[in-house]
Amino acid sequence: MGFKAIAEKRRAVNFFDPQRDVSEKQLEELITMAAMAPSSFNLQPWNLIVLRGAEEKERLKALAWGQPKVAEAPVTLIVLADKNGWQEGHPTLERNWQEMLKAGSMQPAQRDWFLGAARSLYDWSPEANLAFAAKNTGFFAMSLMYAATSLGLESHPMDGFDHEGVRKAFNIPENYWLPLLLAIGYRKPGLELSAAKWRKSKEEIVVSFTEK
Ligand SMILES: Cc1cc2nc3c(=O)[nH]c(=O)nc-3n(C[C@H](O)[C@H](O)[C@H](O)COP(=O)(O)O)c2cc1C
Repeated sequence: MGFKAIAEKRRAVNFFDPQRDVSEKQLEELITMAAMAPSSFNLQPWNLIVLRGAEEKERLKALAWGQPKVAEAPVTLIVLADKNGWQEGHPTLERNWQEMLKAGSMQPAQRDWFLGAARSLYDWSPEANLAFAAKNTGFFAMSLMYAATSLGLESHPMDGFDHEGVRKAFNIPENYWLPLLLAIGYRKPGLELSAAKWRKSKEEIVVSFTEK
């Protein structure tokens, strides 16, 4: 499937077939494809909690407006955005530093510059920490959805949940913000999708705030 076909086929699917599983192999393929998403300084500040068990999905559903898809989908992901992913000592940043040295794209003497650049971009306010985590993880989450479509799977992103309730129920550390939940699976048989929803046109999207 080319990108146009994937973009047109992906929909937020409301009803999943609880009988049709997503295998570990499929999940691994999905996550590996999505992990190709770009991130600032390649810091990849995303993680996932994978829920498959009925009890844990019901627990999440109760904190997510009772949305049936949370429990119906064979796999529901809690997407995590790490607000500390730019900090010195963070395992991903340190791995990234080692990889850059190995690749020759950074020299040991540039470490202070690198750490200072990350600090100056992502630590000038609490909003900057959050923006760093949320925008990069957003790219990852979108990649998960398109990867799911390319693998013949359906997905549904969800904001409708009690952020702090989910944090408590799943023991999620404070460094994570929770940008969304993501249900993954197959559409419930016999249910038709509603018509594709409207989108803003290019003219509505492109703006300018200066005089021509
Ligand atoms: C971040 C995000 C959060 C969303 N939260 C919910 C939600 O909690 N419940 C829901 O039914 N739909 C939710 N949606 C789905 C949107 O309503 C849907 O993507 C949009 O209406 C466009 O429809 P389409 O994805 O089928 O093209 C969410 C979508 C995104 C991207």
